[in-house]
Amino acid sequence: MVLLVGNWKMAPEKAKDALSLAKKVQVLARTHKKNIKMVICVPGVHLSALSKVVKAPLSLGGQGISPSNEIAQTGRESAGMIASYGASYCIVGHSESRARGESDTDVAHATQLLLQKKVTPIVCIGEKERDAHGWYLSSVKSQVEAVIGALPKQLLKKLVFAYEPVWAIGKDALREATAVECREMIIFIRKIIADASDEKVAKAVSILYGGSVDENNGASFIDQGEADGLLPGRLSLDPKRF
Ligand code: 13P
Repeated sequence: MVLLVGNWKMAPEKAKDALSLAKKVQVLARTHKKNIKMVICVPGVHLSALSKVVKAPLSLGGQGISPSNEIAQTGRESAGMIASYGASYCIVGHSESRARGESDTDVAHATQLLLQKKVTPIVCIGEKERDAHGWYLSSVKSQVEAVIGALPKQLLKKLVFAYEPVWAIGKDALREATAVECREMIIFIRKIIADASDEKVAKAVSILYGGSVDENNGASFIDQGEADGLLPGRLSLDPKRF
């Protein structure tokens, strides 16, 4: 089963457009339910309206939560809030949130809070750039270790990771990542998890690919890249392309 998660980012602007898009994706999710598990991770402001229309096999997700349950956090949402509006998944540590100051420790705390509310965390990891000496591997390693080191072994298999090389994301991307680069990194991430727990747990964790993917390269990240699924961004706002 392939896990296909749409990250709607900060769109659409109007609730009626969010509803209409979700309804179209709902049809797709039903059509492909034998092979593909679909999730839409939407802006928090749309969760309430969408929770009334999004039904299995489509699942609803958030895009980030506060790393603490402390009330004095104007402008933030808690794990409990998104869970109460039907989010069963939530992105954490997206490179766009990390760029706004979300630290590895914040990502680890948010992951713990989501698991406490039975929301599946989709933990985004990925290097900003690649260097010839392979230092980028240590940045990905510390991102993964910060999260798994804060959790008991029995919870690790509940995690979903999304490998999103920052240099391949968005309209200013340097270039597309290749399926081989994706495969190497997925093997590397599984090895980090296996070293912290065991091979069985490392195999059970889903690892998605989420650098910019499209209808031309998406399948290659699964077939040759060994990803368990995909996390497209802007493309997921177009139901046909999604
Ligand atoms: P785009 O697919 O819009 O490049 O974004 C990728 C991404 O950030 C998914 O989380």
